[in-house]
Amino acid sequence: SDQVPFYGTYQAGIMTPAQNHVQLVAFDVKTDRRDELIDLLKRWTRACARLSAGLSLGETDSAYIPPDDTGEAEGLSASHLTFTFGCGVSLFEGDRFGIGHKRPALLRDLPTFDLDQLDEKWSGGDLIVQICADDQQVVFHALRNLTRIGRGVVKIRWTQAGFQRSKVADATGGTPRNLFGFKDGTGNPDVTKAATRENTLFYQWRDGSPWLTNGTFLVVRRIQMHLEVWDRTILKEQERTFGRERASGAPLGSKDEFASVTPTKRIARGETELPADSHTAVAHGEGKVQLLRRSYSYQDGVDETTGALDAGLLFLSYQRSPEQFITIQERLATSDRMNEYITHRGSALFACFGGIQKGGYIGDALFA
Ligand code: HEM
Repeated sequence: SDQVPFYGTYQAGIMTPAQNHVQLVAFDVKTDRRDELIDLLKRWTRACARLSAGLSLGETDSAYIPPDDTGEAEGLSASHLTFTFGCGVSLFEGDRFGIGHKRPALLRDLPTFDLDQLDEKWSGGDLIVQICADDQQVVFHALRNLTRIGRGVVKIRWTQAGFQRSKVADATGGTPRNLFGFKDGTGNPDVTKAATRENTLFYQWRDGSPWLTNGTFLVVRRIQMHLEVWDRTILKEQERTFGRERASGAPLGSKDEFASVTPTKRIARGETELPADSHTAVAHGEGKVQLLRRSYSYQDGVDETTGALDAGLLFLSYQRSPEQFITIQERLATSDRMNEYITHRGSALFACFGGIQKGGYIGDALFA
C-alpha cells in the first residue's frame, strides 16, 4: 500500500522513510479566539486523515456551490502522503489561547549562531505543517486544501519546497545525495531501536510538559549552498571538507560508507584520521549528541545579489530537545570547514505534537 497511517503513537512524517518531496508551510494564527483555533485543528484532522488514506475531501452534491475538494488529486494514489504538525514559541506568547502556562521550557527562540545571515521571510511561525509525498501534485493538493480550510483563521507566513532523488530514479534506496554531490544521511541514528528513539528523538513524559509526550522538536534551517564556489573546488578538498569520499560516502581512510567515524575506533583499526575540521568530524564530536536529519534539497530561482542559482539544503532535524541541535550547530558555526561554501538564511523551531488518536484531533493534549 502507498498509504502511511495518519493516526498512531507518533506523528507520521518523522520516522517515515523520506518521500520524494516536502512542502513546509508555516502559518500565523490571525484569530485570538481559542474555540476558532480548536475548530480549525479539528477540521484539519478530518482532512488529513482522509487525504492520507487517498480519499478526496468529500463529494459535492450541488452544482451551485464550490466543490468540497479542489479536484487536482482526483484518481491519484495517496503516494505516502504524510502531515506533521507543530507549534512555535509565538503561539504561546501573550497567552492568546489560554495556553501560555503550557509552553515547554525548551521551546524558546534558538540562539544566534556565528555566521548566521537570517532573513525574516524564512523564519518563525505560530504553526508548522510538514507535508511529504512521492508526488508533487499530491503535495500541492494537500497544501492548497489545508490553506483553504484555514482561511480566516490562519495566514501563510512562509512556504518552502524541497526535493531529493526519486524512488523511481534510485530503486535501490541508497543514501540520497545533496547538491554538493555527497551522500547525506549516512550517520543518522537508527531510530527503529526503541532505546535510541526514546533517548534521542521523542519527548518523554518526564521531560516536563506531559502534553508533549511522544512529540518532538523540529528545527528548520534554510541553508544556501554556494554551488559556483564549490564547483571550482578540487575533489580532494571537497572530500576533506566532508571528511568522506564522494563516490562511496565512506569516511576518509576506510572503504565502507557506514564505517565508524569515532576517532578512537578508527585509530584502533589503523585508519587515517578525519580532518579535525571536516563537517563529519565536527558534527560527530564525541558522538554523544545525536539528532535525526530529514533534510531535502531546495532550488528557488536566482539569487538577486549574485545572479547565481539560489539552491541549497532545507535542513530538517527532529530531536527530543532543541539543545541537541544547538550543541552541534554551535560547534559547526565556529569550526566547520564547510562554512565557506554555505550561508544559513532561515531558521525556525517547533514543538511537534505527539501522535493523533482516532477520535482526537491535532494538538488536543495542548488544549485539554
Ligand atoms: C553529516 C551535509 C548541515 C549535522 C553530514 C554528511 C554530509 C552532510 C554530506 C556526511 C554523511 C552523513 O552522515 O549524512 C550537510 C550539508 C549541510 C549540513 C550540505 C548544509 C548545507 C548540517 C547542520 C547540522 C548537521 C546545520 C546540525 C546542526 C550533521 C550530523 C552529521 C552530519 C549530526 C552526522 C555526523 C556523524 O557521523 O555522527 N552532513 N550538512 N549538518 N551532519 Fe550535516
